[in-house]
Amino acid sequence: MERMSDARGLVVGNWKMNLDFVEAVHLTQQIGVVLRHQPVAHTDVVVAPPFVDLRSVSSVLEADRVPVAMAAQHVNAHDAGAHTGEISVGQLARLGVTQVIVGHSERRTLYAMSDDVVRATLFAVVRAGLRAILCVGEDLDVRSAGGQNEFVAGQLRDALEPLTPAQRALVTIAYEPLWAIGTGRSATSDEVRAISTHVRLVAADLEMPGALVLYGGSVSPENAGELISQGVNGFLVGGASLKAESFLAIIRAVDDCYAELR
Ligand code: 13P
Repeated sequence: MERMSDARGLVVGNWKMNLDFVEAVHLTQQIGVVLRHQPVAHTDVVVAPPFVDLRSVSSVLEADRVPVAMAAQHVNAHDAGAHTGEISVGQLARLGVTQVIVGHSERRTLYAMSDDVVRATLFAVVRAGLRAILCVGEDLDVRSAGGQNEFVAGQLRDALEPLTPAQRALVTIAYEPLWAIGTGRSATSDEVRAISTHVRLVAADLEMPGALVLYGGSVSPENAGELISQGVNGFLVGGASLKAESFLAIIRAVDDCYAELR
């Protein structure tokens, strides 16, 4: 991959259904102290807390001037109305959320989020001018049959084709193979390089030549340094984002890589 000299890395911590608001405040403060005293120059950092933690996390980010943006893990595609238990894009934006994870595989598989709902949700997010982190990735059966490229291209086209080029520019693509999520078995360097090349080809075809591409799935301080040099712009991190030390180590690995590109 060619990177412009002003390119920046991106690390997103997806806390999933972990940390109550007290724990979330504590983790945000820990991350904030380190990033304020030893800032990273070339990497953007985002955390995606559970809905109920967003207000508390945003207060800490603002009060402590922490250079971290806030994402939500999911959102409902409708603006408002009779959708008991759901949250709208407008409600998130009001809390300072600037990005939303759309179509995470756990939503797709555990909560029956269909391709139609992924498409509608992505549209709702970018129509409001927020950034979206669109998750794609195949399961083990597809990978074993060698069908990952076709599968991922299908997911990308399905979600992105209805959008205008300006809306697509608000989308970050996160490749997260299901077999690597939470398993401790990340994709290998070769696998990450091959799929990121493929994702960039599909993105270019969709008039998204500069799209940011993240890898997610068992990213850790141990493998981040090697995986970041395989053509991705950064990571979507689950388990390792729940501890300040491991999350910060991953951020440093990405930042060191981007610093070398200057
Ligand atoms: P893990 O890093 O825990 O494998 O989770 C990846 C993920 O699903 C992030 O969205």
